[in-house]
Amino acid sequence: MEKNMQAEKLFGVIGDPVGHSLSPVMHNDQFAFQELPYYYHAFLVKPGELKEAVNGLKALHVSGFNVTVPHKIEVMNYLDSIDEEARMIGAVNTVVKEENGWIGYNTDGKGYVESLLTKAGETLENSSILVIGAGGAARAVISELARRGVRQLTVTNRTSAKAEALKERVSERADIRAVPTPEAEKDTPSFDIIINTTSVGMSPHVDNIPWRTDHLKPGCICSDLIYNPLKTAWLQEAERAGAQVLNGVGMFVGQGAFAFQKWTGIWPDVDRMHAVVMHHLGGN
Ligand code: ATR
Repeated sequence: MEKNMQAEKLFGVIGDPVGHSLSPVMHNDQFAFQELPYYYHAFLVKPGELKEAVNGLKALHVSGFNVTVPHKIEVMNYLDSIDEEARMIGAVNTVVKEENGWIGYNTDGKGYVESLLTKAGETLENSSILVIGAGGAARAVISELARRGVRQLTVTNRTSAKAEALKERVSERADIRAVPTPEAEKDTPSFDIIINTTSVGMSPHVDNIPWRTDHLKPGCICSDLIYNPLKTAWLQEAERAGAQVLNGVGMFVGQGAFAFQKWTGIWPDVDRMHAVVMHHLGGN
């Protein structure tokens, strides 16, 4: 069948807030680029309206949707099945209508690691990695790093009990240490990669820094999941201290790329998606 003879399909993202989401522009550009007659829309869904919204999307026969804050956990109650990765992470960010129903996936961790690989390359498995934070984003990142066979994983969090709980969650998959922050700070020179999954440094509190940069391992990678601002104060400091730095744009694009692939069966032009997002963020 000619591409332009394909049936039209509707996709979207549900969240609150969702007005500034860059997913519509990223996916719609890619649909056009791949000559697919598909459209992606941002739907504002308030807490308390999620069940109705998901049932509405089903009744409207959308083909799939992304899920963002604050619905990534609750949405699991309204789907027919949850993929193993998403279950391990405990959250869903991508829903696909398949033959056997509505299936929930999580592409955040895969998207993140794909972006990290652009800096870490083949050394990833043997790197010593510190993850700061123990919330949903940390769970996604750590689950995928563990799945990829990273052997030296450390997690630290302001609230130590949450880091311990995360460790238990992924312990069947990886030998991971949960370390109180003062102790992890002393270990800073031992880490090849340090990943900030907390919101420390995010706009509007742009001067806050999640980790000290005065005794980083030479040549290490400092990676921030934040992309607003594009280069956080922490990444700026780390760069001045000689580290390689990675912002959160790659993770955002990566999770979108894996969602796009699930919906269309096509691996998208990731560089193009990245360029579209950067253009809208005012970067280059
Ligand atoms: P997300 O889904 O983005 O990971 P989350 O589940 O609310 O969001 O998790 C937020 C993470 O950032 C937590 O690890 C949180 O630490 P606590 O467990 O102690 O709350 C961390 N975090 C948020 N603000 C922080 C701050 N000012 N300093 C240190 N850690 C912070």
